[in-house]
Amino acid sequence: MRLPALLLGALLLSACSASEGPAADAGTTAASASSTPSPSAPASSPGAEPTGQSAPGEPASPAPSPASSPSPPSSPEASVPGIQSSPSEAAAASDPAGDAPDSLSDPSSIGVVVNKQRPLDPPGFVPAELVLPRVALGPSAGSALLRPDAADAVERMFAAAQADGVGLTVVSAYRSYTDQESTYAYWVRQYGNAALAETISARPGYSEHQTGLAVDVGQDDGTCTLATCFSGTTSAQWTSANAAAYGFIVRYPQGFDGITGYSWEPWHLRYVGPEVAGAMQAGNIATFEEYFGLPAAPGY
Ligand code: DAL
Ligand code: ZN
Repeated sequence: MRLPALLLGALLLSACSASEGPAADAGTTAASASSTPSPSAPASSPGAEPTGQSAPGEPASPAPSPASSPSPPSSPEASVPGIQSSPSEAAAASDPAGDAPDSLSDPSSIGVVVNKQRPLDPPGFVPAELVLPRVALGPSAGSALLRPDAADAVERMFAAAQADGVGLTVVSAYRSYTDQESTYAYWVRQYGNAALAETISARPGYSEHQTGLAVDVGQDDGTCTLATCFSGTTSAQWTSANAAAYGFIVRYPQGFDGITGYSWEPWHLRYVGPEVAGAMQAGNIATFEEYFGLPAAPGY
């Protein structure tokens, strides 16, 4: 089914998160395996459409580049102390491989924790370098830019998945502050109220996508793109089992809305480095907040 042009435009404008939350979740939850409460979809919600599968040939959102993004106030806090009591912080300090976080607050750190209580600082942060991973993109992909270390990990992870017969795609990755403004505004309009929109879309300055370390993945045949039923695909199952080895966690797991502040997003991966991702998997620790001993962030 083709989406109306207006809707397509809106989806593409808002890139990943345009379909990342309510569209996907609200449109599929009732019939999917999800037991996570989702906000009611607005009557005109794109959730009624097969999100992510309906825009072949459509131009993807213009890939934002650091040069065209709002001028990033330089981060004066390259060594902002994180949570000093965190054992992971201590581990990071002594991490010989250098792949553990050096700060929970520095947006240029791979360990930065961004949630509704922890905005990016500065709000207009732009990663120093963003690159396009050499992997397949989903049919309605937004920007696939990532920080180099995350892009490299995506390339290696996708190759490993392919070797196992699993075809992953990038649906969306980096979003600038202004991209997120558009995305957030779109969802507030769709829902008619900010509280519902905020269960699935971050306010500008509060999105992990702005770090260049978050990537939404899909299955190459488009099954359940950005929908909670993605969890039933071989791609999601492979990712759930193997992403940690490449340094990724599923950032918004099912049933942890009260901690992460967001509904279940089985497609949203966050690069944290293999040490932290492996430790979380080994310790069966579901959320970044719990791993670092940070307060739950159910709201702003
Ligand atoms: N959908 C995630 C929470 C974001 O907007 O960053
Ligand atoms: Zn995402």
